[in-house]
Amino acid sequence: MFQTVGKSVPRKEGREKVTGQATYVDDITFPGMLMGATVRSPVARGRIRNIEFPDDLPWEQFTIVTAKNIPGQNSVALISDDQPYLAGEFVNHPEEPVVLLAHPDKYLVEKARQAVHLDIDPLPGVFGIEESLAKQQIIWGEDNILKAFVIEKGDVDGVWEEAAHIIEGEYRTGAQEQLYIETNGMIAIASPENGITIWGSMQCPYYVHKALLKAFPLPPEKIRIVQMETGGGFGGKEDYPSMLAGHAALLAWKSGRPVKMVYDRAEDLAATTKRHPSRTRIRSAVTAQGKLLGQDIEFVLDGGAYATLSAVVLSRGAIHAAGPYHCPNVRIRSSAVATNAPPHGAFRGFGAPQSIFAMERHMDQVARAVGIAPEELRRRNFLHAGEATATGQVIREKVKLEHLLDRALELADYHSKTKAFAEQNQHSRVKRGIGFASFMHGAGFTGSGERYLQSVAGLEALADGRVRILASSTEIGQGTNTILAQIVAETLSINYDQVEIPRPDTNEVPNSGPTVASRTCMVVGKLLESAAIGLKQTLTKAELLDENYSGGDFAGACARYIERFGPLKSFCQYQAPPGIHWDEETYSGDAYGAFAWAVYIAEVSVDTVTCEITVDDFVALQEVGRVIHPVLAAGQIEGGVAQGIGYAIFENVVWKNGRMANAQMTNYIMPTSVDVPRIRVYFEEIPYEYGPLGAKGIGELPIDGPAPAILNAIENATGLPVNEVPLMPEMLMRALERAKAPLEASVG
Ligand code: MOS
Repeated sequence: MFQTVGKSVPRKEGREKVTGQATYVDDITFPGMLMGATVRSPVARGRIRNIEFPDDLPWEQFTIVTAKNIPGQNSVALISDDQPYLAGEFVNHPEEPVVLLAHPDKYLVEKARQAVHLDIDPLPGVFGIEESLAKQQIIWGEDNILKAFVIEKGDVDGVWEEAAHIIEGEYRTGAQEQLYIETNGMIAIASPENGITIWGSMQCPYYVHKALLKAFPLPPEKIRIVQMETGGGFGGKEDYPSMLAGHAALLAWKSGRPVKMVYDRAEDLAATTKRHPSRTRIRSAVTAQGKLLGQDIEFVLDGGAYATLSAVVLSRGAIHAAGPYHCPNVRIRSSAVATNAPPHGAFRGFGAPQSIFAMERHMDQVARAVGIAPEELRRRNFLHAGEATATGQVIREKVKLEHLLDRALELADYHSKTKAFAEQNQHSRVKRGIGFASFMHGAGFTGSGERYLQSVAGLEALADGRVRILASSTEIGQGTNTILAQIVAETLSINYDQVEIPRPDTNEVPNSGPTVASRTCMVVGKLLESAAIGLKQTLTKAELLDENYSGGDFAGACARYIERFGPLKSFCQYQAPPGIHWDEETYSGDAYGAFAWAVYIAEVSVDTVTCEITVDDFVALQEVGRVIHPVLAAGQIEGGVAQGIGYAIFENVVWKNGRMANAQMTNYIMPTSVDVPRIRVYFEEIPYEYGPLGAKGIGELPIDGPAPAILNAIENATGLPVNEVPLMPEMLMRALERAKAPLEASVG
């Protein structure tokens, strides 16, 4: 029934990428261009006494920028604008930028970067969630709390008396690096007369625009942001590009020359954002039959030294904390705390992987306490259409979680494997296990976010029938350009090849919002679908297209229209689907336009001597509405699962006084092809009424499920209640030793 949607058409930018023609920021050079570098704090916290420039370098050749040289606001505009571009009096985390340098010779600028001496009086730092909550040092406000809020439904205090079982647990997740292939990079040209132009690697051109507008005394039209080909983002290029673009622009502003700043991997790992570490405590009351009566959840994130995006990461995490279950009484107390680490930021999932890990590990433990199978416990508590989530959002989609669960269990051969493994494990050093997670992920900005964004996207039709997409949504490897073009081609009944999508450039395209929050397909795709319908209406009103047009001489109609009336454009601005209400005060209501739903199943082997864990099979079944491009959609899921496997058992950020001690890819270990099993991806398609051609969001969902599914499988294999990721072999070894100890003590 569709011509383009549902087909795996060639990627829009695929040919340029495979032939090496695609232009990344580091591929461009300007005459007279300088190379920029950043001098960063060696300590976690302290007062800057002096900046020293030892006299064996030709400093007069360098452009040098400190906090004093910032013409406007010295903080990156985001939510609370609290993170300075350059530390002035105090530094609050290791690697905090203090001085910027630029010079034509990139080797000399590196030498100079190492030579600058920061004379800092160290102050005691706060590291990790426990130290921050203990308040021995106050580093933020009155209590180190960057942001806190409570979600409440029913009366959780009234449930404990009638509970047949009360189950408590604590769950922890570590930091995780986004590890986009292309590190952060920017080029700036800037002057008070001509304004600023930025070319760079980014997810959100208009975020960078907004930030520079506050840092420089320029009108909006004098700031132009151009996204270059971008080699991955995963959230890591949501907020940090505003910092780096600011730095490049400051050096360009002062020097009057183009300035390029491209981080090497070590700097990118040590200095830029990561996923927030978390601690979640859950206390559940259940009936003898395993029905949830109440859940009291405490969710804490380590925000790092500045608030940046923590408030919204916290809110998405807290809203997802109760999982895809119907529980009449829920309280979620959440907070993001300050520590003297670089600010943690956006990373695919945005808080949800942390809280979903906790809930899905917890549900397996509840099942054990009740004495029923984990799948049976889920079945007795799944959300159905007409029931409400923890925020009181009544589900209006046709959600079929029981069906997803049954199908996933069958695809994974779950029941026969559970039985077979239990028998084999009795006389085997390598224990095998199988586990799963059921979960949901909300698409689009949380709460009233989309209403505030008021995104606009549009189309321009040319006289030869080509149609150009006008949007600031970025292609970062995930397929934006392709799926948006498919949606437009389908709606206009034209060829996919007739649709073009120019590079996002704030001088050329309207603000279709940031490329984040699993919103691009569902929200921006919908705007473009509406713009396409508008375009058709314009042509039918002008009597150039037939009322019942469903393919035909579109190009001819465009040519005649343009000849008579001039440019043919159509724009659409976001409007919330009907009946969506969110109350920011009580944190209740419709948190998201729609959810994607999923059941993921992992099969693992655990060597009880070496403590090596391997994931042997992975089934990922999800309902994401209409699948626009099957190959790209499966690619999103495979990538998310691989990243989730890394999160679960490989990727360990080693912290030393707030600094990443293993900032190289040789010792921060991400999974490679040999560490990843066959990832079997399946979709259920239930078209969503308010998505473009029925599509919902897909980008973040796949990172939510792997970690809990894998740890549930590890518990299934070993009997060890492992509740922390990444689960490194040495942690597993300690858990095995602890489990053996009482036995040996009683024997000995
Ligand atoms: Mo994303 S983690 O919403 O860039």
